[in-house]
Amino acid sequence: MKKVWAMYFSPTGGTEKAVKTTAETLADKLGLPLDTYDFTLPDMREGEAVFGEGDIVVCGTPVIAGRVPNVLLPYLTGRVKGNGALAVPVVSYGNRNFDDALMELRNILEEDGFKTVAGGAFVSEHSFSKTLAAGRPDEKDIAIMRKFGEKIAEKLMGGWVYTAPAFVKGNDPIHPYFKPQDRNGNHIDIRKVKPKVNDDCCGCGICAEVCPMGSINPENTKEYIGICIKCCACVKKCPTQARYYDDPGYIYHKEELEELYERRAEPEYFV
Ligand SMILES: Cc1cc2nc3c(=O)[nH]c(=O)nc-3n(C[C@H](O)[C@H](O)[C@H](O)COP(=O)(O)O)c2cc1C
Ligand code: SF4
Ligand code: SF4
Repeated sequence: MKKVWAMYFSPTGGTEKAVKTTAETLADKLGLPLDTYDFTLPDMREGEAVFGEGDIVVCGTPVIAGRVPNVLLPYLTGRVKGNGALAVPVVSYGNRNFDDALMELRNILEEDGFKTVAGGAFVSEHSFSKTLAAGRPDEKDIAIMRKFGEKIAEKLMGGWVYTAPAFVKGNDPIHPYFKPQDRNGNHIDIRKVKPKVNDDCCGCGICAEVCPMGSINPENTKEYIGICIKCCACVKKCPTQARYYDDPGYIYHKEELEELYERRAEPEYFV
């Protein structure tokens, strides 16, 4: 073993925290150097990410509709090469459920040529909300992330030999995407919804810099030039709170999530 990697897509920072805390602990316990591979912004997904034997890659994405974000599939299945490196799939979810996202990410990494060692699902503030899992990951979550890193290190130092993909929770084959519903049981389709911008916008351009889809025109931040995945990076990072949603379906779904999933969901890991 030569190096530990913290590799992540993380529009609002929750996945980054889970991946980095796990990878830092793992590197520390194994006495290995740590490197970072942040593929949140579009530029970073243009080239290939090539790993090899001796690398241990802690790789994380948020959970979107119970799955790995589908916009990442071309990159994750086409440009990431394991070449026999070890991998630890990690997903971060907003207190509802991670459904099959961890299983899907494990399977993708195996297909890419990694050998998966363990997997973990952690909770952080929901992209849509300021109250759902607010303040998470908190100290308790971070202690669990560290424990996860320690347990992986113990497994690797205890003479572990790869025989099969790491056991993680989820359905295999993977179930369909989670579909939000209105009060009549009809599917709420938010795919075309995008944040609006009010007059508090000072034109600073931060939203265009942080959009993981490169979809906000930096010359005119009220104009969209690509798709929106509702990651809310632009909304949460806007210094004047000028970006907001007014789509009734989106608002209904957000409020329902806040009401139904108020209870504390706990992280789960599989080593
Ligand atoms: C479009 C969309 C769908 C989401 N679907 C789920 C979900 O199915 N279950 C869940 O618990 N959280 C869901 N979330 C919340 C994110 O998984 C959660 O906030 C995650 O921690 C965000 O990661 P980040 O901080 O790295 O951006 C969703 C978020 C978005 C933007
Ligand atoms: S981050 Fe907010 S204030 Fe800055 S350009 Fe974008 S919308 Fe305007
Ligand atoms: S425009 Fe959409 S995809 Fe881009 S940062 Fe905002 S919410 Fe995320």
